[in-house]
Amino acid sequence: MSTTRHFLTDLDFSQAEQTKVLDLALAMKADKYGYTPYAGPQTVAVFFDKTSTRTRVSFHAGIAELGGSPLIINSAESQLGHKESISDSAKVLERMVSTIVWRTYAQSGLEEMAQNSSVPVINALSDDYHPCQLIADLLTVREHKGALAGLKMTYLGDAANNMANSYLLAGVTAGMHVAIAGPEGYLPADSIVAAAKERAALTGGSVTITTDAAAALQDADVVATDTWVSMGQEEEKEARLSLFTDYSVTSAAMKHAKDDAIVLHCLPAYRGYEIEADVIDGPQSVVFDEAENRVHAQKAVMTWLMVASGLAEDARMEL
Ligand code: CP
Ligand code: NVA
Repeated sequence: MSTTRHFLTDLDFSQAEQTKVLDLALAMKADKYGYTPYAGPQTVAVFFDKTSTRTRVSFHAGIAELGGSPLIINSAESQLGHKESISDSAKVLERMVSTIVWRTYAQSGLEEMAQNSSVPVINALSDDYHPCQLIADLLTVREHKGALAGLKMTYLGDAANNMANSYLLAGVTAGMHVAIAGPEGYLPADSIVAAAKERAALTGGSVTITTDAAAALQDADVVATDTWVSMGQEEEKEARLSLFTDYSVTSAAMKHAKDDAIVLHCLPAYRGYEIEADVIDGPQSVVFDEAENRVHAQKAVMTWLMVASGLAEDARMEL
């Protein structure tokens, strides 16, 4: 009997699995309606505890393109997490839907959902990780740069947030040299850095954590950033806006990176803060390719999990 596979953190895919998911995403991008693991249509429930544009729309579109029926639920309008335990919710949902997607705060909630669910559970962003975003980002890098292994990918800004963690873990899983730069006190947790180093040792990637933005940017192939005020941190906004100014992705900062470096931002972006308008709206920016790739990447993640869990068959997929 197959064990259900979930996608809760960037480490849930090995390097080989991540490569296969990216291969599948590219194939799906070229054949939008050719894969139907949710034929029936089977339902996929997508819960949001936080706001969203891209994740909401890309999951809805992707599930429909996979032959399924998307059910998008604002958690506040459901019982999940406040009127009913996560484990009871999982035991109900697994009898009704083929996959559970959840954007939430605590990573522990996703883990509890997965522990109680016989259908795949997917992290659509938590306080700690945004792994679906990184599959889209790596797909975008592959499209623009070819192979991932050996490239240098640099992230600047709030280096303690979900995107920093995911760039680090997904990047080293791909065999990339990942540099993360932010101010003291806003760097990835020791446990994340240790996990990244362990994964890098398997893939030939490497980990650099620094407070020196220029050093992190030196010869980078890929430069990424994210908002300085993540969802749930709104009350800290005033204090946070002055913390990260040395880590803004400006035209001057980009001079340290390779001339042909590409720029990623998961969006929404705050021009004049974490990224200068001239950079995000300039020729090195690939942020709208990145946004579109959320659809293709998540279709591949959902399909891969369904097939790997023994819940769907697709003869074109070699796992
Ligand atoms: N990048 C991203 O996850 O965007 P949304 O918050 O709009 O879903
Ligand atoms: N770090 C941001 C990402 C938004 C997609 C947040 O968590 O709000």
